[in-house]
Amino acid sequence: MAYSPSRRQFLVNGAALSVATVLPSWLTAASSSKSHRVEVLADFEIGLVRPELHGHFAEHLGSCVYGGLWVGPKSPIPNVNGYRKQAVEYLRELGIPVLRWPGGCFADDYHWRDGIGPVSQRPKRVNIHWGGYVEDNSFGTHEFIGLCRLIGAEPYLAGNVGSGTPDEMRDWVEYCNMPSGSTLSEERAKNGSPEPFRVRYWGVGNESWGCGGWMRPEVYADHYRRFSTYLREFGGTVPFLIASGPNGNDTRWSRGFMDRLDGGIPEGFAMHYYEGGADHPTRFTTDHMKEQFARYVKVEEAIIQQRSLLDSYRDGRKINLILDEWGVWDQIPKEDEKKYGALWQQSTMRSAIAAGLGLNLFNRQADKLYMCNIAQIVNVLQSLLLTDGPEGKNCVRTTTYHAFALFKAHRSNTAVKVQTDDSGPVGLSVSASKRNGELVVSLVNPHPDTDMDVDCALRGVTGKSASALILQSPDLNAYNGFDSPDRVVPRPHPVVVEGGRLRIELPRLSVATVTVRSS
Ligand code: AHR
Repeated sequence: MAYSPSRRQFLVNGAALSVATVLPSWLTAASSSKSHRVEVLADFEIGLVRPELHGHFAEHLGSCVYGGLWVGPKSPIPNVNGYRKQAVEYLRELGIPVLRWPGGCFADDYHWRDGIGPVSQRPKRVNIHWGGYVEDNSFGTHEFIGLCRLIGAEPYLAGNVGSGTPDEMRDWVEYCNMPSGSTLSEERAKNGSPEPFRVRYWGVGNESWGCGGWMRPEVYADHYRRFSTYLREFGGTVPFLIASGPNGNDTRWSRGFMDRLDGGIPEGFAMHYYEGGADHPTRFTTDHMKEQFARYVKVEEAIIQQRSLLDSYRDGRKINLILDEWGVWDQIPKEDEKKYGALWQQSTMRSAIAAGLGLNLFNRQADKLYMCNIAQIVNVLQSLLLTDGPEGKNCVRTTTYHAFALFKAHRSNTAVKVQTDDSGPVGLSVSASKRNGELVVSLVNPHPDTDMDVDCALRGVTGKSASALILQSPDLNAYNGFDSPDRVVPRPHPVVVEGGRLRIELPRLSVATVTVRSS
């Protein structure tokens, strides 16, 4: 039953209770905050919240790989076989379901053979996309797989379609997945890995409409057909092929690709949708923040429209929609890029709210999405971790890291429907999921100057106890700097649950996750 926001009474397990008899004093005290009503329909199931909806992306860009994740075994920076120790610990703690590599734009100019074999013999190549600096290829396929094993992530390799060839990519798949007996599998063994890498996810190009070759959709469809013909199963690992999808909600690209493809459909179709920002990352105005948050409404629309576009094709329903790159992309100051690396961007309370808006909408659209990878994992754009440059010893967890940590409880749950009485870019945002008698509700208050009292009716669930964690700062530009790494961190937060009702106060600019137990 839909509630009426103006009602002064509401139902708890079918009985009408007066607000005054049940509310704790901290909620009834006079305040300037706005009241909101929410309804969680626990029996209205949307779909599985695949852990891959919380996926990540690492590109050879700035100090993401070199100096970020990878410092090399001889570095004075504490490391585990060359991987930055502090980064590994933080990422393991959070859990990284899937990690995409080596790009991005970089992928379409990367030749995998450059990154295997004795490190001293690997060629030095110019990174033409990101600053023209020279890379020594000391981080290649084996190092990437090693990282994935260390942090427990499923590897996702992006192949080179732009400047590469079908046989080059075909050989990469065999090198990684053929268990033994072929020249390529023996080469892998000689390079230290007798066991196959069993890589399932393969991107067939990246942004083929842009840095991946500036192709027209029909031309890319032809390339996709040709490349995919040779990307095969080895040793029981069947590749899950991901085609380059649209820039944002570009339906012209998706239609052009699908019309021309005519069979041989990919398993995945990867759209990219960044949420651009008009300001310096730590000097956002509230107006520009609202403008940026408004983009999430467009992202949600794009997911719905691209999904129905795919569904309109014979076999199109079998294609899984992936949001391969997303996140806030602000006006990054040149000084920061010079000091710390290209696209090094600080993450603030605003960024954490943006992450919460994204992760909430992924729950709401869980039936339409297969994987979502935020850009990027370390030191680039909306990253989880920041280091103070490639030489820097410091490694901090950003506000975005903490937002992801708050949503971890949804992974592998079933998303359920939520109704709210609010909308708009800075309106209350809520999502919920359930598993084994537990209900998880995430709430985001993106408003810069209004606190919210949330009264949530739980339909189909009887809550016995609940706990909540909140990430909050009244300053939208607050961030975790190297001298104040724990300025914005999740903290326990009061929540009241009684049978079919949940009450929580959400201060302005906050992200909260409530776990409701029914026993
Ligand atoms: O994430 C940074 C860049 O953004 C990627 O290389 C590219 O795919 C996108 O345009």
